[in-house]
Amino acid sequence: MPLPSPTDDITRGLNQRPASISPKYFYDQHGSELFEEITRLPEYYPTRTETALMQQHADGIARAVGPGGTLIELGAGNCQKARTLCRLVQPACFVGVDISADFLQAAVQGLRDDFPGLDARAVGGDMTQGVVLPADIPRKGRLVFYPGSSIGNFDPPHALELLAHMRELIDDDGGLLIGIDLPKDVQVLEAAYDDAAGVTAAFNRNVLTHVNRLIGSDFDVQQWQHRAFFNQEESRIEMHLEALADADVRWPGGARRFDQGERIHTENSYKYPLPVFTDMLARAGFSRAQAWTDDRGWFAVLHARP
Ligand code: AVI
Repeated sequence: MPLPSPTDDITRGLNQRPASISPKYFYDQHGSELFEEITRLPEYYPTRTETALMQQHADGIARAVGPGGTLIELGAGNCQKARTLCRLVQPACFVGVDISADFLQAAVQGLRDDFPGLDARAVGGDMTQGVVLPADIPRKGRLVFYPGSSIGNFDPPHALELLAHMRELIDDDGGLLIGIDLPKDVQVLEAAYDDAAGVTAAFNRNVLTHVNRLIGSDFDVQQWQHRAFFNQEESRIEMHLEALADADVRWPGGARRFDQGERIHTENSYKYPLPVFTDMLARAGFSRAQAWTDDRGWFAVLHARP
């Protein structure tokens, strides 16, 4: 089925009750810069916890994965994490997959420069729609790498579909290296998504600026406030934008009135207990999993095999 255009996708979400905007629209140039800033915030523990875990368990990870295979990173971006992993597992081939193909090309060239002899490729594509790899990418010893707990931004049925797709990318001798964020103290979680410097608030509100540009709407960004809270029942952080006053929003071909206090749901970030996630992995075709967690039990890196 062809993908809906961003205009159709966004206007459908805005017309829903309650309204929603997909988190994929966070990442315009400014949104990507704000996200980078988020990863360095004192309250935002996931990035630094995952990096520390990978450093601390470098040998164990390298042993589990083995050298000389093909490393496939989904959402590779600037390939910074791939660079660290390439040092560790010394793959023969690297494939970076990302929506932003031009940006990725430059990053992959950087990897070629740093790792002479590495067959490094860039594949443009939305991995949520199914990744099609070039036919000559070796199948032997493939490792799919999906760091950063990004799997948590999909609802569980969609996350399961994605994991099943990752399983299809590898043969029986392959594996998956994935980062997930674990449930923890609500205050810690809520601070990570509502930091004191207001960077996450700016990141959340920036989606309206991006939407204005994409569909020609007239959201007044200043009229919306950031809301982030932990939904215990669903085990997820929810981010919303809440109207500070009644707002009439128009765009070519449509309009919507938002009452004061009405919200637009912009993101979920699921926090899976380890056994729940390993069960999901098993349902996706990964029956063996080895997990590394930090001392506080806040984050986990898993190596899963068929
Ligand atoms: C990209 N993703 C894993 C982030 C998260 O923690 O869910 C996105 C994010 N949203 C607000 N802060 C960070």
